[in-house]
Amino acid sequence: MKNTQHNVLIIGAGLAGLYAALSLAPRNVTVLSPKPLGYGASSAWAQGGVAAAMDEHDTPEAHATDTVNAGDGIVDADIAAFVTSAAKEHVLELAEVGTPFDRTKDGGFIMSKEAAHSYARVVRVKGDQAGAEIMKALIQEVAETPSITVLEGATALELLVENNMMQGVVVSEDNTTPYVIQAKAYLLAAGGAGSLYLKTTNPPSVRGLAVGMAARAGAVIADAEFVQFHPTAMDVGIDPNPLATEALRGEGATLINKHGERYMLDVHPDAELAPRDIVARENFRQHQLGNVPMLDTRDAVGADIKDEFISVYRYCQQSGIDPITETIPIVPAAHYHMGGVATNKQGMSSIMGLWVSGEASSTGLHGANRLASNGLLEALVYAATAADGMIKSIKTDNGCAYTADLKVPDIGFKYVDEDAVMELRAIMSSKVGVMRDGNGLAQALRELKILDEQNNGASTNFDNMLAAATLITAAAYNRKESRGGHFRTDYPEKDDKFKHRTEITYAQAIALRDSV
Ligand code: SIN
Repeated sequence: MKNTQHNVLIIGAGLAGLYAALSLAPRNVTVLSPKPLGYGASSAWAQGGVAAAMDEHDTPEAHATDTVNAGDGIVDADIAAFVTSAAKEHVLELAEVGTPFDRTKDGGFIMSKEAAHSYARVVRVKGDQAGAEIMKALIQEVAETPSITVLEGATALELLVENNMMQGVVVSEDNTTPYVIQAKAYLLAAGGAGSLYLKTTNPPSVRGLAVGMAARAGAVIADAEFVQFHPTAMDVGIDPNPLATEALRGEGATLINKHGERYMLDVHPDAELAPRDIVARENFRQHQLGNVPMLDTRDAVGADIKDEFISVYRYCQQSGIDPITETIPIVPAAHYHMGGVATNKQGMSSIMGLWVSGEASSTGLHGANRLASNGLLEALVYAATAADGMIKSIKTDNGCAYTADLKVPDIGFKYVDEDAVMELRAIMSSKVGVMRDGNGLAQALRELKILDEQNNGASTNFDNMLAAATLITAAAYNRKESRGGHFRTDYPEKDDKFKHRTEITYAQAIALRDSV
């Protein structure tokens, strides 16, 4: 089977992967895209925009402070300062490559306000089209950049690491016999873990594969326990759940239940614009009580929803709801994984030669709770940072070595058993979801072990999913307090003993799994 040698290999073709590929031009880069470009990436589904202090009255410092506050005590303040100060430059870069951001009459950026931001600082495209339009602009730019080769249909299954140094990546194209790609530098940008849950706003392919694959190869994983549940995913029988963007609440849309109560007024002074985890938990509680939480856009947005929130309106129509005259049933859904592969300030993981950016990474920016629209921002800043790091590494020490006799390991590459995936998603939703407790988490670990034994290595893809699920569950079991997106009913308060980020390896997670 062909084993091939490339300059830089980028695993993943969402925002982080493509932006890094463009930042590396004119150096040769190969990008693995499991689906045709633009499909299967969470970035393209992002309805929020990019958070950036663009307004002359706003500052990166204020943005950094909001980021630190949202992260509930464990954001790395240096990283927040670094990312927020780079924000404007990357928004201008996106505009330069043709992203049609919403503009004022005099050419300025129209800024929206989202929860926990002290300023209206989210740049958008046609209301809720930011992710799709940014991706469209980048895909066009990639097509015009000859140094970038995109392998569509190619999925990374396993990282080959020796002496803690990257050796290659096992790749399968359209589920055919795997082969090895070797490169001088590697970027993992293959997304988060939302679809490990039954209710999610993420595309079905976003199943923790990147985190699981890196962890199985020995990478240190940070803050794995922190999963953000978006408070207002639409509860209309569609899997994945369509998102009803927070910007609707920014425009004044309210949350009511079947009794007509505007329940957030009693929960937090900022009501519907309280931090995302607080709104998510109350919506979950209303849902559990059978109170049918709903988003009411009728007065605040009215008929403008048609043109200003195109995706939300389209999904409402598909579900037989007229949001101009009716309320939209909602439910919290897994939206973003704050945890991921631990990276240093340069975006490199604990494995030499492996950089990570986007949702697969954990840079320290998000802490326990990501500030809205900081996800795309972090992907941009760390894609560019990682690109710089890879260039330097290749220049100064020639990067990772090519090993002539590298063999393809004997791994299972057969299709994932979707029934097993549904079992996995059910375990994560019922025991590792919005509300957690020690007994449920221990039970989840035991059930994950059974799924692992049943798979018995047959599908490496499923091994990667299981690894991500096990890491999230083990880290949640270890954090015996509640903070940000992680809520333990048996430890409902914050505890200063845990006021820090966490690190866990796959070996540690498995040892815990096997001991509970
Ligand atoms: C939203 O538009 O509500 C989501 C934005 C984000 O998650 O950053």
